[in-house]
Amino acid sequence: MPSHDVLIIGAGLAGQRAALAAARAGATVAITSKVHPVRSHSVAAAGGINAALNPEDSWESHAYDTVKGSDYLGDQDAIEIMCKEAPDELLELEHIGVTFHRNDRGELGTRAFGGASAARTYYVADITGQAILHVLYEQLMKYADRIDRYEEWFTTSLLSDDEGNCCGCVARDVRSGTMENFTAKAVILATGGAGQAYKPTTNGLIVTGDGIALAYRAGAPLMDMEMVQYHPTTLVENGFLITEGARGEGAQLFNSEGERFMERYAPNKVELASRDVVSRAEQTEIDEGRGVGANGAGLHLDVTKVPRKRILEALREIVNIGRDFAGTDITREPIVIRPGQHYYMGGVKTDVWGQTPVPGLYAAGEVACLSVHGGNRLGANSLLDTLIFGRRSGEHAAQRASEMALPQVSDTQLDDDMAMIDRLISRERTGRRIAEIKDELGTSMNKHCAVFRDAEGLDTCLQTIRRLKQDAERAYVDDRGTVFNQDVLGAIELGFMLDCAETTVVAAIHRTESRGAQFRTDFPERNDDEWLKHIDVSLGGDGEPDLSYSEVTITQWQPEARTY
Ligand code: FUM
Repeated sequence: MPSHDVLIIGAGLAGQRAALAAARAGATVAITSKVHPVRSHSVAAAGGINAALNPEDSWESHAYDTVKGSDYLGDQDAIEIMCKEAPDELLELEHIGVTFHRNDRGELGTRAFGGASAARTYYVADITGQAILHVLYEQLMKYADRIDRYEEWFTTSLLSDDEGNCCGCVARDVRSGTMENFTAKAVILATGGAGQAYKPTTNGLIVTGDGIALAYRAGAPLMDMEMVQYHPTTLVENGFLITEGARGEGAQLFNSEGERFMERYAPNKVELASRDVVSRAEQTEIDEGRGVGANGAGLHLDVTKVPRKRILEALREIVNIGRDFAGTDITREPIVIRPGQHYYMGGVKTDVWGQTPVPGLYAAGEVACLSVHGGNRLGANSLLDTLIFGRRSGEHAAQRASEMALPQVSDTQLDDDMAMIDRLISRERTGRRIAEIKDELGTSMNKHCAVFRDAEGLDTCLQTIRRLKQDAERAYVDDRGTVFNQDVLGAIELGFMLDCAETTVVAAIHRTESRGAQFRTDFPERNDDEWLKHIDVSLGGDGEPDLSYSEVTITQWQPEARTY
């Protein structure tokens, strides 16, 4: 039974940053991940990371843009911390070896990003997440005396002691099927969002809401789950991300009439309005019959407005994606895109040190909701969130660990989880297939809980989710072996996604207003009198989601009308 001061579940940017911070603070650390760490979904983060590092810029301006971008649902104390600490974090990354772009004078260079009043996005071409992830992984090696890596271990449950402290997890070695208790004095969830509950999504196949569901089942409340971001530029064919960096570099959007339609919706920021605004504008153009491509389901993103040399230097990854996955040479012709699911603003409710209300349980990165993103996240604030709050969680967890003894844990949960997997594997082959249920879930979420929503569609979606939950109880797995049995893990992931989808839709039904990413066509106005508050969702004793509210923290920016 591996025992450590701090256990981190998930090895993307938030997890690796937390591990580094906890180890530097003197803790022994275990970091587990269901995939090899450099295959974590952070590797897909493209466009950059925000920081007000430039002397003409200020953290206050960054914070104001973030608050406005959040449609005033973001908690301003947390946003202030994130924006104040951003410049030092960026320099730290630079010092440990991240090769950020430099301009002709050799200074760190920036690009513009959506919803920002200054160009404050630092980047490595359009592979920023990948570049940071690999450098942090080197740092884990450097601290190998204090950080044990458990790569390809899949977490099935969290453990708690008799006093209700979270004190570890049960995990399965993907390579062998062996299951173990991991015990720790503090546990940090860094498992990312739940994008695979949607189809299509920009998110990798591994992004299945594991940490959100594990925390929910362990008694931690979720917050702002209805706030699901649709990114304005994803490939129509398959949902692949075409980075916002393209628009930051000067790419423009056009409808079937050749009109640069964003001039009508956001006269000042045009294509660089915040994501919710651009995605809504695009969906309106498509719904009103001004779309392009097959069935008029997309719009043109014209990257040829950017000089070819600059495209090849700064946007080389989307050159490859356009060619390989859409058959389009973006240096010569527009590419067809549409809004697609990209990010969960909601997640496990935490404070500014990553603590959840369950003692000993922390969360950082997309799995968490502080809330620094509120109703809508600004592009390039998510890498920042993972690093700032990953570090803070790691530091706080190490401090907690230094003050307590290692908890004693029985094998009860381990035995339960082993029995659960045995039952899954030995099911009669009479039910539906896991992939078929997942497909129906994602399609329904993308139809009814997307850029535009209404009560009727959301109710239909909720009924579908509840039916799929029953189907999932009887679904069967083909692979009955122990070695790399992804089939059985897929069945467990399906359960995680269904919990995430259910809490998302229940909260979306409940919020009878339009704010940020939640646009209710039946309640099209923002309603600060009734809805300037978070919706928290906890698992009730009857197995149903229980809703309550918490206040939005306002420090210095009162809600205003939002225009770009
Ligand atoms: O478009 C992008 O490069 C995505 C960035 C983000 O979600 O922050």
